[in-house]
Amino acid sequence: MSKKYLITSALPYANGALHLGHLAGAYLPADIYVRYLRLRGKDVVWVCGSDEHGAAITIRAKKEGISPQEIIDKYHALNKSTFERLGISFDYYHRTSAQLHHETSQDFFLELFQQGDQFDEKVVEQYYDPKFDQFLADRYIQGTCPRCSYESAFGDQCENCGSDLSPTELINPISTLSGEKPQLKSTKHWYFKLDNHQEWLREWIKTGQLDGQQYHNPSSWKKHVLGQCLSWLDTGLQPRAITRDLSWGIPVPLEEADGKVLYVWFDAPIGYISSTRQWAKENGKDWESYWKGDDTHLVHFIGKDNIVFHCIVFPAMLKAHGGYNLPINVPANQFLNFEGQKFSKSRGWGIEQHVYLEEFESLPNKEDALRYALIRIMPENKDSDFKWDEFVDHHDKELADNLGNLLNRVVVLTNKYFQGVTPDLSIPLSEKHPEIQQLILRMTKEIEQFTFRQAAQTLMEISSAANTYLQDVSPWAIAKKDPDSPIIAECMFLCLQVAGYLSLLVEPFIPFSAPRIRAVLGLPTSKAGDLELALNKLSNGEPLIKGGHQIGKPSVLFPKINDRKDQSRMMLIEQQKAKLAAIEASETKAERPPIKDTITFDDFTKLDLRTGTIMEAEKVKKTDKLLQLTIDLGLETRTVVSGIAKHYKPEETIGQQVVLVANLAPRKLRGIESQGMILMAEDENGKLVFVQPSKSFGNGCFVK
Ligand code: 2FM
Ligand code: ZN
Repeated sequence: MSKKYLITSALPYANGALHLGHLAGAYLPADIYVRYLRLRGKDVVWVCGSDEHGAAITIRAKKEGISPQEIIDKYHALNKSTFERLGISFDYYHRTSAQLHHETSQDFFLELFQQGDQFDEKVVEQYYDPKFDQFLADRYIQGTCPRCSYESAFGDQCENCGSDLSPTELINPISTLSGEKPQLKSTKHWYFKLDNHQEWLREWIKTGQLDGQQYHNPSSWKKHVLGQCLSWLDTGLQPRAITRDLSWGIPVPLEEADGKVLYVWFDAPIGYISSTRQWAKENGKDWESYWKGDDTHLVHFIGKDNIVFHCIVFPAMLKAHGGYNLPINVPANQFLNFEGQKFSKSRGWGIEQHVYLEEFESLPNKEDALRYALIRIMPENKDSDFKWDEFVDHHDKELADNLGNLLNRVVVLTNKYFQGVTPDLSIPLSEKHPEIQQLILRMTKEIEQFTFRQAAQTLMEISSAANTYLQDVSPWAIAKKDPDSPIIAECMFLCLQVAGYLSLLVEPFIPFSAPRIRAVLGLPTSKAGDLELALNKLSNGEPLIKGGHQIGKPSVLFPKINDRKDQSRMMLIEQQKAKLAAIEASETKAERPPIKDTITFDDFTKLDLRTGTIMEAEKVKKTDKLLQLTIDLGLETRTVVSGIAKHYKPEETIGQQVVLVANLAPRKLRGIESQGMILMAEDENGKLVFVQPSKSFGNGCFVK
């Protein structure tokens, strides 16, 4: 029986558009992996879909004054179509509001319920908002995090320190519905006894073994994933409530549970099962063989905030249910930042996938340019940062200057010297270029180990190696002296072989460009299994592109973004940067106090402003704010106490020219008489700086 691969990507909530961080986190890496498996001829199914329950959706609906159904319909359609436009090639994109998903989740719940020892029924005190006559979902409660003191932590999680919380742990909780303090009220819920699964989970995660069988190899799991799981297990697992008092969700299938729904994190991962079932139904397949078969590889692609659910809670649910396989790997990614800051919808910081596609409509290769740039910075093991300048460089320096240049030269020269016909040779690539063969094999291993960033780097190394070889031979120079030299034929033959491999290897990364690359090489668009055949040829020493094969005509595969002769594409980048600069500028302005009430000119002329120089400075005792300054005003010397000690050390102020309000009534500060005030301006970072004449001035000059 051949091995089956079941791949899942986190079901995104259908309550908003997805941004580049989501794409780089759980969808693009899975797409690379799945496209690669298909090219290797593997039996693979990749499922995803919209997560349409949960408080986030009801909160959004409430805010916008529309129904949750309207929200999910809108964002399910948007996210699904945007994924398609970016070449994210799910086999099925389901939704958790579907009837089949409701049934699958209810059946799953009932199986655990009927086993008798998986759940605890508990009457508990929970927060309730009397104004809205509603129990509050964890997300509807905000308060201060007991771990890090962040003031806007949610009842289920602190987004500042990442701690998993329960609402009653929050300090000073408030209901986000009414803004008032919620009351505790009793209600009955069902708890999944996760603590009963602690021991086998630890064994399985640490050693990969379960029931005496080697399930996975822990050394192939990412360190940060293992680390997070083990720290959870060390803290000790607790029973988890899997029901909620809410009106939106999947009804708990028990008579006594009227008005209660399944907790969204109970039904969402079951969404992977229902998505597979729906796919199987529509394609005449057997879904169970992918979930329950003996030789099935289950891999969950997620972001780091979902690790616990996929490595601990869902495996425990699957094992408790029985019959299901557990994941062999959960290659969670860390987070992507955007130009040095977190993505923030409310600030407009970052770019959503569909907005990128709209705003870069005129950029040729916009999909692949984005995919490639994201792959090169994918947050595989630590958080990373998207920058527009790097986006341009990855496209122009790697895709255009390296890969595009190689393909262009190979196609142009083969057309020039051989009328586009592959020289009739049969030299194994491994014989002449074992280093390139090694790189090709290394790249396949890197994809299999989920190190996609490195695999893209290796792809570039293959192309560089071929470019170097072509340059070293320089067939154009040989052709001038000896147009019939066999060296030219050998060089073009071998370069065409490398180009042929590249045309397949690039497909998981840049699937929009791959068919165009195949076309210039006179090859059909690749199909499932093609890379497998090609790798067999590589190891057997057979040519991939045979002598006599007619290639295509050259075309510009990757027009540079930063093209000196045509700056139109670079303008798109400049517009993005300008948007970010405008956000920062508007936020800086927003922090400045409003203009004060109008004064008359007479009021103004009452001020006596004079230039002066600070001669002496010392800290005022028992305060960290004040400096005592001695200021030379020309005709006289003044003592001024100024609140600038947090901004200047005493020695930094000496010799500074300042402007002094010279006729301010003296007043005592910390026992020292302050005879005037110096003018300071607050910069955008809140630092006070001296208002100074733009040139050196005599002391005592009148400022007006
Ligand atoms: O964090 C999220 O966006 C969740 N909607 C992910 C769910 S993953 C799975 F369990 F469905
Ligand atoms: Zn916290």
